[in-house]
Amino acid sequence: MTDPVNQALAHLDASWDSYLAQLVELSRIPSVSADAPPSAAVAASARKTKELFEAAGLEGCKVIEFPGGHPYVYGEWLHAPGAPTVLLYGHHDVQPPGRPEKWETPAFEPTLRRDGRLYGRGVVDDKAGVLMHVAACGAYLRTAGKLPVNVKFIVEGEEETGSESLEPFLREYQRELAADVLVLTDTSNYDAGIPSITYALRGIVGIRVEVQALDHPVHSGMWGGPVPDPVIALCKAIGELMTDEGTLNLPVWGDVRPLDRKSHQAIAALPFSEKQFREQVGLVEGATLIGDQRMPVWGRVWRQPAVTVLAFEARPFEGSTNQIIESARARISVRIVPDQDPKKVQDAMVRHFEMRVPWGLKVKVEREHAASWWMTEPNGPAFDAAARAMSKAYGRDCVFIGCGGSIPFVDPFAKVLGGVPALLMGVEDPTCNAHSENESLNVDDWKNGTRAAVYLYDELSRLPPRSA
Ligand code: BES
Ligand code: MN
Repeated sequence: MTDPVNQALAHLDASWDSYLAQLVELSRIPSVSADAPPSAAVAASARKTKELFEAAGLEGCKVIEFPGGHPYVYGEWLHAPGAPTVLLYGHHDVQPPGRPEKWETPAFEPTLRRDGRLYGRGVVDDKAGVLMHVAACGAYLRTAGKLPVNVKFIVEGEEETGSESLEPFLREYQRELAADVLVLTDTSNYDAGIPSITYALRGIVGIRVEVQALDHPVHSGMWGGPVPDPVIALCKAIGELMTDEGTLNLPVWGDVRPLDRKSHQAIAALPFSEKQFREQVGLVEGATLIGDQRMPVWGRVWRQPAVTVLAFEARPFEGSTNQIIESARARISVRIVPDQDPKKVQDAMVRHFEMRVPWGLKVKVEREHAASWWMTEPNGPAFDAAARAMSKAYGRDCVFIGCGGSIPFVDPFAKVLGGVPALLMGVEDPTCNAHSENESLNVDDWKNGTRAAVYLYDELSRLPPRSA
């Protein structure tokens, strides 16, 4: 077994412990991008990522900074003349850890448990994704001394806050990042052990709304009745966003592209157990799965908009008394789908709250991030190559899935690169608890995903030239 692919795979088999140790090391750094830049921790994870790039044998490694943003990391290996260029993308920033008391082991002390999973903030979203390609590149460069394709590797530092520097980044680096195919490892797999290629992402828009009724709290008995409660006013306006069935209730939401027969059938063909779905989210017994009941459940997640109240502030229980409080506020996000326009949906949300908060109360609405949805037809030589790579690595065929989450980078990037194929092949399985406490990585999937990357570079080296 002396061909480069098998050499690289043998190297991985002999070195899993050290690559896993690198993942642990990277995941110890609390690179929370929700902390305002400049952040020492995000800077440290950028430096560490750059070090890992260099150790793997990537070249031209650098940290890229934008004023007011969190740093990107870049590395490359460009010595495969005539072979395609693959742009690898990941992110080294993470979500805030949430409530410390809910973590069974501390968020930033990555811990391998007996269930075969590594627990810690960012271990799966997306430091595992970064390390999979670092390990796959390293495996080739440490054995054959070369890669079968050219590689440009970009690791972002503010994906989890909506990629605010994406525009200036694209303006400056678009040409430098020209590639024939885009590969991302920041998405789900359908279930543990099932290799999956994602062909659709939802977008997301966010707003903040504050409703003020009074300039100071007042006795609810002395004044309650004629004096409006800002909490109820805000709740009414939020409640109007949804029908009783749980579908969304704004006119602009009508831009939703219906699921065609083929997509409907593709979703219906995936193995699905409502019981398991309920268990995975820990839904209380007796609760209804809401939304358009004619749609398969995953169709609702992948191809229908959804609204979520991310935060709500009124008076905390602690210290509450019989008062009408002066104001209440909420952060609300809408996941958007083809063919919704992010700006239009955001404008509609702003208008909704300006118009629909009752009783003439004072309303202030601010816009947060807006990222587009993305969808592709997952066929053609690059997708065939990815599917072959996955089946070789996992020993079973991959499935094609949508994704309810968002990655702001994908749509603009695929566009500026001239519509190159984007291969989204991640390991954020349904029990990984990304963004919540006790986030974890299925280590077997991570190994198989890394092996799939080794096969993928090889498969992509035989891609016919683009435009052909
Ligand atoms: N890795 C996720 C995207 C994702 C979510 C993939 C669910 C597969 C399943 C990504 O890091 C993420 O969480 N993105 C944010 C983006 C937002 C802040 C613009 C998200 O979706 O909330
Ligand atoms: Mn992610």
